[in-house]
Amino acid sequence: MAHPSILKVIEQRKKLKEKLSGIKNKIGVYSAKGGVGKTTTTVNLAFTLKNMGYKVGILDADIDCPNVCMFLGINYEAPGTFPIKPFEKDGVLVLSTAMFVDDNKKPIIWRGPMIGKMVAEFLENTEWGDLDYLLVDLPPGTSDAPLSIIQLLDLKGFVIVTTPQHIAAINAIRSGMMAKRLGVSILGIVENMSDGTPKGGLEVSTALNANLLGCIKQNILFGELSDKGEIPSLKDKNISEEYSNIIKKILG
Ligand SMILES: Nc1ncnc2c1ncn2[C@@H]1O[C@H](COP(=O)(O)OP(=O)(O)OP(=O)(O)O)[C@@H](O)[C@H]1O
Ligand SMILES: [Mg+2]
Repeated sequence: MAHPSILKVIEQRKKLKEKLSGIKNKIGVYSAKGGVGKTTTTVNLAFTLKNMGYKVGILDADIDCPNVCMFLGINYEAPGTFPIKPFEKDGVLVLSTAMFVDDNKKPIIWRGPMIGKMVAEFLENTEWGDLDYLLVDLPPGTSDAPLSIIQLLDLKGFVIVTTPQHIAAINAIRSGMMAKRLGVSILGIVENMSDGTPKGGLEVSTALNANLLGCIKQNILFGELSDKGEIPSLKDKNISEEYSNIIKKILG
């Protein structure tokens, strides 16, 4: 007989599966290393998919440093009532803890179990409706939030983000190994802030035996546009093409 806490997770997962049955594909964007471009990848992939005609949502699972709203120029305070309705930004549904705090500079300081609980609350109480894709922006690390997402969500897989540097690749490999150990597929690797010749991305793809989906070049426009809440792939033709090629590989 399994331990009651395991049975509880299994039961919760079953309920969530039913609740989220309108979402065809749930994809996590992940790396154990901070600052490599997980949020950048999430929002640009989301809007590229949306422009291809898909119904898309973004879940900001970076509970204590939620950045998705800033990247999308969303300044919305959600009512504290259930069910939670995601905010619609130019046709993409978005949900983030940033919508539930009144000052985006205030630290959100929670212990691990609270983070897991918050992720579960979000997932259980949000009305996403029917979506083709839900992209989940994960925080760095290999502990609470990624673990909760993996445990609770029936993910299609992870897109793993790295930069060209060896240190980023090592941490991305760590993320991939965690995913594999927990039975989640790796849809592929994105090398971000690249010079166009794969380095870290290639290292990760070889180590994890996963597809290198593409390289997103280092481009000053990313910082400039994201700081203004604008989406780089919607503003620049080359950036848009880089993300479209990645999406084609994920879909193909
Ligand atoms: N290809 C790129 N070229 C230049 N700057 C980039 C690129 N991609 C992302 N950036 C910038 O790098 C910074 C970090 O990106 P981002 O916040 O997406 O990383 P992250 O992995 O989500 O970080 P965290 O681990 O803190 O969640 C941002 O200011 C972003 O605008
Ligand atoms: Mg981030």
